[in-house]
Amino acid sequence: MIARGVVKCGLSLFQSGRNRVVVSRRLSNGTTAGEGSSTGSKSIKDANSVKESIKKPESKATSETSTAEPKVQSEFQTRYIPEKGSAWDRFKGGSLSWPALVAFAGVGCVLLGSYSYQKAKKTEEMRRTHTKTVGGKAKVGGDWELVNMKGETRKNSDYHGKFVLIYFGFTFCPDICPDELEKISEALSGLGENAKYIQPLFISIDPERDTEERVREYLSEFHPSFEGLTGTVEQCKAAAKLFRVYFSKDNTVGDDYLVDHSIITYLMDPTGEFLEFYGKAVTASDMCLRLSKLIQNYKTQLEEHNRTINA
Ligand code: NI
Repeated sequence: MIARGVVKCGLSLFQSGRNRVVVSRRLSNGTTAGEGSSTGSKSIKDANSVKESIKKPESKATSETSTAEPKVQSEFQTRYIPEKGSAWDRFKGGSLSWPALVAFAGVGCVLLGSYSYQKAKKTEEMRRTHTKTVGGKAKVGGDWELVNMKGETRKNSDYHGKFVLIYFGFTFCPDICPDELEKISEALSGLGENAKYIQPLFISIDPERDTEERVREYLSEFHPSFEGLTGTVEQCKAAAKLFRVYFSKDNTVGDDYLVDHSIITYLMDPTGEFLEFYGKAVTASDMCLRLSKLIQNYKTQLEEHNRTINA
């Protein structure tokens, strides 16, 4: 109800502004007149009646507003100086009431709200059409095949039955990768017994330098449950692509290059479906808390499942 009143009020204010536009547009076609607030239908007057209104400024239209000054306005005046009785005039004269101002603000809010809504809708649509989705969830992950630290071929399905934390990086990374792996290690340590529900994986995006041995040596400094995966350039590229991980070697000639890459830790559920990801800003304790909750839920579900089977 209130909203409708607001819109109505705003519309009438808008209307009076529009009349002014009609008048000035007509006048800009070569005629000048001292008309006040004319209505839309009057704007179809022929040239004669316009002339008449110049001679007789006390015509119906003007009588209400500017009876005392039958002066012919210059085109400039008509265009740029708002006529008396207009919304602007009332506002200037302080006669535009607070309710009207509130109505103005209200209309603004409604328009802004509808604009934001439309924009959000469009953004959502873009997101939906630009990412493959399965059941409304972004498709992250999929079937990959890599080589573990013992030289054995490993597939994503080999890790089903556990939550899987996946981090893409390279062993020559000077700071970010070690920081992130340290963070994951800390979160896992914080889980205590429950850490056994999680399989952390390090996947190399620099397989040319990251040999199985090199990866094994590198990971020995982090949580003991870490498994390192590398492979051929094609294998690693394909895996990174599944997770939309960006990586790019710098221009250094030789073997001393750095690799710029996304810093994201992915969490897959025990069936291999993507659950969520953790960015650089997520702390070890944040991650630990979150994983702990997920594991707790999972355990409860497992218990319920087992109970229904045994019953
Ligand atoms: Ni790194």
